[in-house]
Amino acid sequence: MSLFSRNRVWILLAAASVGLSAIGAARHATAASPSGKPGAKVTFARDVAPILVKNCASCHRPGEIAPFSLLTYADAKKRAAQIADVTATRFMPPWHAESHGEFVDECKLSTEEIGVIKAWAAAGAPEGDHIKVPAAVPANPTGWSLGKPDLVLELPRPYKMAAEGGDVYRCFVLPTGFTEDTYIAGLEVHPGNTRVVHHVIAYLDAAGSAKKLETAMTDGQPGYLAQGGLGIFPTGALGGWAPGNMPHMLPEGVGTLVKKGSDVVLQIHYHADGKVEPDQSRIGLYFAKKGVDKRLRILPVFAPLNIPAGEAHYQTTGNSIVPLQHPTSIIQVMPHMHLLGKSMVVTANMPDKSSKTLVNVPAWDFNWQTNYMYRDPVKLPAGSSLALAATYDNSTANPHNPSSPPRQVGWGEATTDEMCIAFVWYTIDSEHISQGKPVTDLLDMLGGLGSGGGAGRRQRRPVNPAP
Ligand code: HEC
Repeated sequence: MSLFSRNRVWILLAAASVGLSAIGAARHATAASPSGKPGAKVTFARDVAPILVKNCASCHRPGEIAPFSLLTYADAKKRAAQIADVTATRFMPPWHAESHGEFVDECKLSTEEIGVIKAWAAAGAPEGDHIKVPAAVPANPTGWSLGKPDLVLELPRPYKMAAEGGDVYRCFVLPTGFTEDTYIAGLEVHPGNTRVVHHVIAYLDAAGSAKKLETAMTDGQPGYLAQGGLGIFPTGALGGWAPGNMPHMLPEGVGTLVKKGSDVVLQIHYHADGKVEPDQSRIGLYFAKKGVDKRLRILPVFAPLNIPAGEAHYQTTGNSIVPLQHPTSIIQVMPHMHLLGKSMVVTANMPDKSSKTLVNVPAWDFNWQTNYMYRDPVKLPAGSSLALAATYDNSTANPHNPSSPPRQVGWGEATTDEMCIAFVWYTIDSEHISQGKPVTDLLDMLGGLGSGGGAGRRQRRPVNPAP
């Protein structure tokens, strides 16, 4: 299928890149569950605070992505009715997959918890004994949340983002200096200036191609211009960052391969904000310390699309280009669509004709490009194929429709175009690199996708993402 050209695949990876990264919204603190005794008066201290600490504070605290804090009684009391509303409709906490505990960071309230919040708001939001309020999640530390990185790579000097003239895609070549092939278990991106940094993607270039483009640049600024793209065919990707990102490590024994001598090509998408803004972003790399047994690979599943203007329930399906060649463990899955997306189901079809749902997102929300990581990797036999089924709403009834009146929409990178992909990250069960038994997969040869991937899970896309 022409969709599976090498360039195309990488364009798609770029578009979804942020999701490759280390995201993960909620590192939840443990807390006691609400007493929920019938008739007992519901209080903030005993009943509500533990729910907020566990399910909300990871984002609703200073330095995080939610617009206000929910750490104290005063914070919560002010918004009691609104909190009751958004939890009853399940708008908050944001979680869009149908799931039953199979994903890391699953963030959902039980019906009982929703009832407790509702009763509390209805009773006038009583505080109760403030001594009993559980400790909140600490404010986001300013340092590296994965600990001290093994290697920090930084723009050589600040890039000055122009005050006007629209968005800029600038790529910065950061040599790793690796003298041997190295496995990476984690990536943490520290955007230098979040007023203008929209997203960051860390690609790999083992061929020195990006360096040549950078050298040819004559505008006196670091990096090179690659509007909307990368300008080269990368040899891999490490992950990325968008607002809301929280970095996570890959499972033990799993790593992303970085070939010796590789450069990291940091693609930064800047928004102009009306002032000249300097940015000096940096990334921290975490090496796989305990020895890597399995390389993280990525298999994108695509579906074709051509959505007529006004169509409210456009359906499309697609299959992986080839079945899995080996017994495989699925580590994480990330559906990717744009603003017309309504739903996506990703399924594994086994050779014995049975099938298994990998992820089902019944109400797609473009703002949450979640990378669903399994608590226990999903085992699939060789010969399994991966399929996706997605629906789109290109009618005026879709409040997110970027085109008014609606227009015919096809594949493309712009936010006004659409995409239909599920990125599936996996490892091969028979691969034991630490015992000198690497595996060469047919898919590796189909475009070097094997080195893609990242440690991440979950992020909220910026509100007005540009292409
Ligand atoms: C993964 C991060 C995250 C978690 C967890 C989270 N929120 Fe939010 N919350 C947000 C963001 C981001 C917004 C801004 C709304 C948006 O743009 O989607 C928001 C908005 C809100 C709003 C305002 C809604 C509006 O209509 O403006 C309320 C109230 C709220 N959250 C309550 C909660 C409560 C209560 C919880 C826990 C039960 C929670 N949130 C958990 C990220 C989070």
